[in-house]
Amino acid sequence: MDLLAPDADRVATTIASLAGAFTESAEPGWTRRVFSDAYRASREWTLALMREAGLEARIDPAGNVVGVLPGRNRSAKPLMTGSHTDTVHGGGRFDGIVGVIGAVEVARRLRESGQQLERDLVVVDFLGEEANPFGVSCVGSRSIAGLLDAGHLERVDEDGHRLGDVMRSFGLDPAAALGQAWQPGSLHGYVELHVEQGPVLQSTGTSIGVVTAIAGIERLFARFTGRADHAGTMPMTMRHDALAAAAASVVAIEREGCGAPVHGVSTVGRFESGPGAFNVVPDEARVWAEMRSTEGEWLTGARRRVVDAIGAEASRRGVDLVVEWLNDQEPVRADPLVQDVIGTAADSLGLTWQAIPSGAGHDAAHLAHLGPMGMIFVPSIGGRSHCPEELSETADIADGIHVLAATLAQMDARAEPVGAA
Ligand code: GLV
Ligand code: MN
Ligand code: MN
Repeated sequence: MDLLAPDADRVATTIASLAGAFTESAEPGWTRRVFSDAYRASREWTLALMREAGLEARIDPAGNVVGVLPGRNRSAKPLMTGSHTDTVHGGGRFDGIVGVIGAVEVARRLRESGQQLERDLVVVDFLGEEANPFGVSCVGSRSIAGLLDAGHLERVDEDGHRLGDVMRSFGLDPAAALGQAWQPGSLHGYVELHVEQGPVLQSTGTSIGVVTAIAGIERLFARFTGRADHAGTMPMTMRHDALAAAAASVVAIEREGCGAPVHGVSTVGRFESGPGAFNVVPDEARVWAEMRSTEGEWLTGARRRVVDAIGAEASRRGVDLVVEWLNDQEPVRADPLVQDVIGTAADSLGLTWQAIPSGAGHDAAHLAHLGPMGMIFVPSIGGRSHCPEELSETADIADGIHVLAATLAQMDARAEPVGAA
């Protein structure tokens, strides 16, 4: 297919416009959290962007902005591409955004080249991919994939607000969001462009990452309850120090990730303790942690070892421990044939590529339930991500969009889904 290369300047300007106009001004970095006012306003901007690019666009009941570029055969299984435009608190300008703006650029370039795909190309800016205060990531892609359930809507944040209620006050329809799932096998394929968010591609001087798998994520909340005592008079051997037990657990959790024989990481992202005085032995502590791996077996073992280790730290100090686990997602393999198509597309454009696992979670992990899934990574400078310094070079992003376009065109040309969905 004769397709114009992406317009790199247009892509860079569009990314800068989103960051410039729709950022939570009172927050650090390029914050645009799901359900914030800035995010609400940005949904209309994305909708207008898709319409201007020639897509038939709407906002669905789960808040996804969905645009369709009609193909020649409207009854053929569609191709889907997209990502997200929400950010973490203090986040950057590229995580997710590159996949949405890149997808719109592919649609634009198809039209500007006078080309039409056989099948519809569905471009989606999925609602709320990042973990939110309700502990639910990928709200929009779960909805489309049929993986959002009533239990998710019942989850509460620290102020007791229900996710379902917050969605309703954001103008969404939570009941319809539960009922709009696409059928498994209904997609010809799903391909997502994303920044790597790690240092591998830049350090190996490689243009394109062909994602092999997306890590599973297990989240852990641990509450330690000890006894408050006078910090000057209570002997060390007679204390029930909740903070000391929790701190030892932080180290045990870190050690688990360090010892992983496969791709595995573990992180304590939040720690609180009380009552919080120089002279009182702490009687309570809370730990929020997560473990990730592309290997389900390692995750299962790590979960057990972490519970044993932190249980031992608590009991030897006479501290009570309550542990809750939240499985965010299982590891998901990218379809091998889609990986092949991406690698071939990169070769045909003269770009270097390497296979790479994703330690980050992605909407693609959920879309894999609907059809063959693949992901394309572009380098992140210094591997920085989830921080204001997050940066990918415009030329690298343009290369990634080019590979996305070539991959979608290749997949479109195949009569049957490229993989074994
Ligand atoms: C999302 O970016 C995640 O990996 O947590
Ligand atoms: Mn992302
Ligand atoms: Mn992210």
